[in-house]
Parts: sequence; structure tokens; C-alpha cells
Amino acid sequence: MTTVTVTASRSYDVEIGSGLLQALGARAAGLVNGRHGVIVTDTNVAPLYLAKAEKSLKNGGFTVSTFVFPAGEASKNGKTWLELLEFLAAEHLTRGDLLVALGGGVVGDLTGFAAASFLRGIAWLQLPTTLLAAVDASVGGKTAIDLQNGKNLAGAFYQPTGVLCDTDTLATLPDEIFADGCAEVIKYGLLNSKPLLEKLAAENFRAAPEEIIAACVAMKRDAVIEDEYDTGTRRMLNLGHTVGHAIEVCSGYGISHGKAVAMGMMVIARAAVKKNLCLPEVPEKLSALLERYHLPCRTEYTVPQLYEKALSDKKRLGDTLTLVIPTEWGASRLHNVPVEELPDWIAKGLES
Ligand code: GLY
Repeated sequence: MTTVTVTASRSYDVEIGSGLLQALGARAAGLVNGRHGVIVTDTNVAPLYLAKAEKSLKNGGFTVSTFVFPAGEASKNGKTWLELLEFLAAEHLTRGDLLVALGGGVVGDLTGFAAASFLRGIAWLQLPTTLLAAVDASVGGKTAIDLQNGKNLAGAFYQPTGVLCDTDTLATLPDEIFADGCAEVIKYGLLNSKPLLEKLAAENFRAAPEEIIAACVAMKRDAVIEDEYDTGTRRMLNLGHTVGHAIEVCSGYGISHGKAVAMGMMVIARAAVKKNLCLPEVPEKLSALLERYHLPCRTEYTVPQLYEKALSDKKRLGDTLTLVIPTEWGASRLHNVPVEELPDWIAKGLES
């Protein structure tokens, strides 16, 4: 078991290891005074882990209610969010009670935004059941729903009360969903960890993921502690996301987040090389590593399609967009570009 402590506007532990689902009730009882817990999950995760989570929470002395919504990014919208808020109100949840997000990034983002907004703030625990959520969405307090014009456009910074990452839950993930999380793991390496990239190239970590997850969470913790509200260095975590989010929106969320981020990293790496800002070995090594983890390196979308969607990017400040560009294998930096230069970046990134 590994514990990473995040010290932000709220301090909390991210526990990573086997058997944590069974520990939910005991951990929850130590974190809140109320004894009503609402487990929020989706139709994929409910048949696998809801009964276990419910039993554990009841053993911890909680009255348990459950809210299950249809799995998929299409549910992460204002409608589901309002339904959840109405459910919490109908259940008479108080500020002393607890929400539990049991699932992947969609469950975490939606539950977190409900936790941030219900009664102006209620405690919530994250139990990530995908690799993607374990290394990214469950840590750092970014909560959100999608709007028709873009991903995560309504939300709040609202740190969880704790994170329990039970690595046993990752064992049931289909290969494709596991690969999705690998894109974010590779992203951490490309940001600033050559040793992590070397480890990923040398061995597949699926059988024993705790160490790699803990390394990624520790890197995210450092970014969150330094810049909780995403105005400075935390924006580094968006490597591959400007084009990645645009690809997701263009596909109507048919292309998953991890695959889109993989393509987004490739686009920005190729463009950075052509602009003499990055070593040519980076896109070569990156494409080899992405392929090793069954991730795509190219997108079929065109410059105008991607540009239009990238304009809704939250990282745009007026006429300037902050891109995250790799500079060498295991090092990246922020780079401001005028919005009108973005089509040229995308075009160069789409060329071979
Ligand atoms: N997913 C990027 C961040 O949490 O800042």
C-alpha cells in the first residue's frame, strides 16, 4: 500500500493498493461526522463493485443510498448533474454526510461537481476504478460537466476528502480501457520523467500497477500543491489536451480521452519539432511507446475541424493560448501562442 498526501485547500490522502474497497466504510467513518453515504456510479461499474462498496459503507455504520446513471461521457451533462442534485435533496443529505464516486473519470467529475454545488459543498470520496481516473481525474479536485460546446466547460475546483485507489478493480478493465489510462501515464513521463519513460518501454506494468500509479499521483500532487487553481505550472498536465479535447469533441466523444490525448501529444510533438522547439527523436520515441501500449498516433480530423473545437479550450486567455510542448525525451514546457497561429501548429502536427 502506498499513500500520497495532497496538501491543497483541503489536505487528503490518496491511498493506492489492493483491498481498499473493503476498507471504504472504516475510512469514511474516520473522515466525516454524518452517517448517510450516497454512492454514485454508472451502469458499467455498478454490477462489478457497487454491492461491495455498499456492504463496506454499511459496515462502517452508514445508511447507504445509491445513484446509478448510464455509463459514458454523454451522461456527464447538466441533466444528469441536476438529477443527482435533486436525488441528494430528496434523500435529505446534510453537510455532514458523504458522496462516494465509484468509477472512472466521468463518475468522478460529475460526483465532484455535485459535491461542490450541493449545499454549497459536501464531503466526497473518490474510488477510481479505471487507470485513467487513478492517475489523473481522481486527484486534484477538478470537477466538471460537459457543455454542448466543449468538454468540462462547467465545473469547480473542489478537492475530495480522500481517494481510495483499489488496484484490484483495475484487473477487470478491458485492455482498451486500460490502454486509455496508459496515455496519461506516458504523458507524465513525457512531462518530466525520463526514468518513467524508460520503465514503460522496458516492461508492461499491468500486472503490478501500484508503483507506476503512485509515481504519477506523486507528480500530480506536486503540480496541484504548487498551483491548485491551474493558473501556472499545473497547466503542464494539459500536455496533448488542447488537440486531444478537440478530437474528443469532433468525434462526439466516440474517441476516448486517452486515445485523443495520445493523438494530441503526437500532433504537438511533431509541430514542436518543425518549429525547432523539440528534438526530432521525441515524436519517434513517443509513437513507438504509444504503439507499445496500443494507442493511436494519428487523427483523421482536419485543421479547420480541430481549430474550431480547440478555440473552446479553457486554457485560452483572450487571444493567447498556452500550449504544452515537449522539448526533449522526458522534458516539456509551457509555450504561449497567439490564437491565430494555432492552425499552423495543428497543420504542422498533422503532417508526417
Ligand atoms: N487533468 C489535469 C489537471 O488535473 O490539472
